[in-house]
Amino acid sequence: MDFTKSMSLVERFHSLIPGGSHTYAKGDDQFPAHMLPYIARGEGCRVWDADGNEFIEWGMGLRAVGLGHAYPSVVEAARKAMLDGTNFTRPSLIELEAAEAFLDLVPGADMVKFSKDGSDATSGAVRVSRAYTGRDMVARCVNHPFFAVDDWFIGTTPMSAGIPEVVRELTATFRYNDIESVEQLFEQYPDRLACLILEPEKYDPPADGFLEKLRDLCDRHGTVLIFDEMITGFRWHLGGAQAFYEVVPDLSTWGKAMANGFSVSALAGKKEIMELGGLLHDKERVFLLSGTHAAETHGLAAAMATMKVYRDEPVIETMWKQGQRLTAGLERAIADQDLEAHIGIFGRPCCLVYGTKDAEGNPSQPFRTLFIQETMKRGLIAPSVIISYSHDDEAVDRTVEAFHDAFKVYRKALTEGIDGYLESRPVQPVWRTHNNYRLG
Ligand SMILES: Cc1ncc(COP(=O)(O)O)c(C=O)c1O
Repeated sequence: MDFTKSMSLVERFHSLIPGGSHTYAKGDDQFPAHMLPYIARGEGCRVWDADGNEFIEWGMGLRAVGLGHAYPSVVEAARKAMLDGTNFTRPSLIELEAAEAFLDLVPGADMVKFSKDGSDATSGAVRVSRAYTGRDMVARCVNHPFFAVDDWFIGTTPMSAGIPEVVRELTATFRYNDIESVEQLFEQYPDRLACLILEPEKYDPPADGFLEKLRDLCDRHGTVLIFDEMITGFRWHLGGAQAFYEVVPDLSTWGKAMANGFSVSALAGKKEIMELGGLLHDKERVFLLSGTHAAETHGLAAAMATMKVYRDEPVIETMWKQGQRLTAGLERAIADQDLEAHIGIFGRPCCLVYGTKDAEGNPSQPFRTLFIQETMKRGLIAPSVIISYSHDDEAVDRTVEAFHDAFKVYRKALTEGIDGYLESRPVQPVWRTHNNYRLG
């Protein structure tokens, strides 16, 4: 596989765009140094890079593309909407239609407000929770890696530079599936927690009634429960993880796959809270969400077309089924190379990730890099293994085959030492205080 053209662009990307990417998780430090493809186009579950290399994609735009790249009915709906204008001085009719379609899917929510990014929705949820409760503190789940680009969240990460201590002190953390860690927060900050925010499920399913217990604790303490359905939405169930687990949060936040890669996010929830951002009350006004581009017609048309496919076709079932086929294949391939102690596959079939460990059994970025390197050589971009509706049997089987061959190299590197196999510096976690990075 030849990356000459892409590699010739790396410096230009970095000279004009800080980090060479508009999203940290897509950055060069996440991939082997000599394999940095820039994507020219995508179709279904495949993408082609600047050099014309073809890959089966297993990241799907950081999970934003559920149906597949350039999904025809979604693209056509967006195109048609654009022909009638994208942005006006008053709300467009499609805003009501999209709200009706969305709220039909999410039974626990009475109202919805659309925006562009997931962060708009989560930060809007935090703000309105503070206004609704009259409290200042936010509790976020520490096991979930991302909620927003805004200070209330970024201040709790290792990249908190630029965020004042006074802001950072207002966000506390609790652990997933550890109800005592939540109870302790309520004890430590009596009458101060405005909201609890978490992904309803990440890699481990909720255990021992965790979500129900959160619901109960929030009810007892008058705290707003926010489910961040950015990833679980449009994957776990048509109505999100809240429908899957039948636990209704006060607010929920959506984005990613809801418009199959077009920029649409949503904050949805109970009328009593959401209406604070509206005109029909006499309380103090809350700036809930507002954006020049928030309700662009083609984004909402794409969202409606996406929701239609999810409603009319077995999208969710297919993602789970294909994910199971993938899991079974990967588990066989791992067992074949005796790698159970070194490679872990985590998550639900509709949303899988893998973990890499070295010969001593410690989590290893060099081995992660080796694995990305070897799968890329075999035609995959697989920093994760996120299924879409377009990953058909052929794509899944080819992927299992490629993983199997990559596992053989992994096994040799474990036995003989990684230095003879790893062709570049290791990848690094996004969340770190310093770069420790050089071009080339
Ligand atoms: C769970 C979760 N919440 C919120 C966000 C923020 O969404 P966006 O990047 O669209 O602002 C992300 C993005 O990765 C996410 O994974």
